[in-house]
Amino acid sequence: MSIEIRIEEERDYRNVENLIRESFWNVYRPGCMEHYVVHCFRNDPAYIKELGFVMEEDGVLIGQAMYCRSEIKLDSGETLPAITLGPICIANDKKRTGYGKILLDATIEKAKSLGFGAIINEGNIDFYGKSGFVQAKSKGILYADDPEADYLLVLELKKGYLDGVHGTWADPEGYFCCEKDPEGFASYEASFPYKEKLKLTGQLF
Ligand SMILES: CC(C)(COP(=O)(O)OP(=O)(O)OC[C@H]1O[C@@H](n2cnc3c(N)ncnc32)[C@H](O)[C@@H]1OP(=O)(O)O)[C@@H](O)C(=O)NCCC(=O)NCCS
Repeated sequence: MSIEIRIEEERDYRNVENLIRESFWNVYRPGCMEHYVVHCFRNDPAYIKELGFVMEEDGVLIGQAMYCRSEIKLDSGETLPAITLGPICIANDKKRTGYGKILLDATIEKAKSLGFGAIINEGNIDFYGKSGFVQAKSKGILYADDPEADYLLVLELKKGYLDGVHGTWADPEGYFCCEKDPEGFASYEASFPYKEKLKLTGQLF
């Protein structure tokens, strides 16, 4: 079997959004929003096209990952540029078979090669930790909405980039497109085949 990780092209957009919808559906909340976030985010100035990836196995889409620019607000008043990963997902029938780590590691290498200093995002340390992420608060960076959060994770891409850092990080504005435009989200969602929204234990919202 042949795996290819490549930059997303316009012809991939709908397939990618469908993959995200299938992969995130009922995982963190009844239904999901991540497919609409990606749909809107590609036009956001913070979106990094060079870090928008698809993963294919024998030409079939099985994964995606995207990044945007974000910043750490330092206690000194300055800002430190960073990048934020998400969403990243793997097709349901391929989850937990190693593809996510392969994809994540490939995106990290590319981000390093482009000269970015650090990746910061919310996530599960059980997955991200295997690729070197640590709790952001251990590096002096607190989540603006929940300073105690241990699910804000960071990975230094340039050695020493986070040395001596004290500050906070907030979600990029582009992540809130569903809340800002509920009608747009509803009509977008209606363009997909119906799926049942379920309230399941373990969901975050
Ligand atoms: C999260 C996700 C991208 C991980 O990809 P994956 O291919 O399933 O993960 P891998 O098989 O590469 O996992 C590598 C290791 O990470 C850890 N891991 C992965 N997913 C995990 C999860 N949901 N919970 C706990 N640990 C997890 C495990 O330690 C795993 O190793 P193991 O299976 O040998 O125990 C994928 O499961 C997915 O698409 N989930 C739904 C969407 C999502 O939650 N995306 C991330 C948030 S943006």
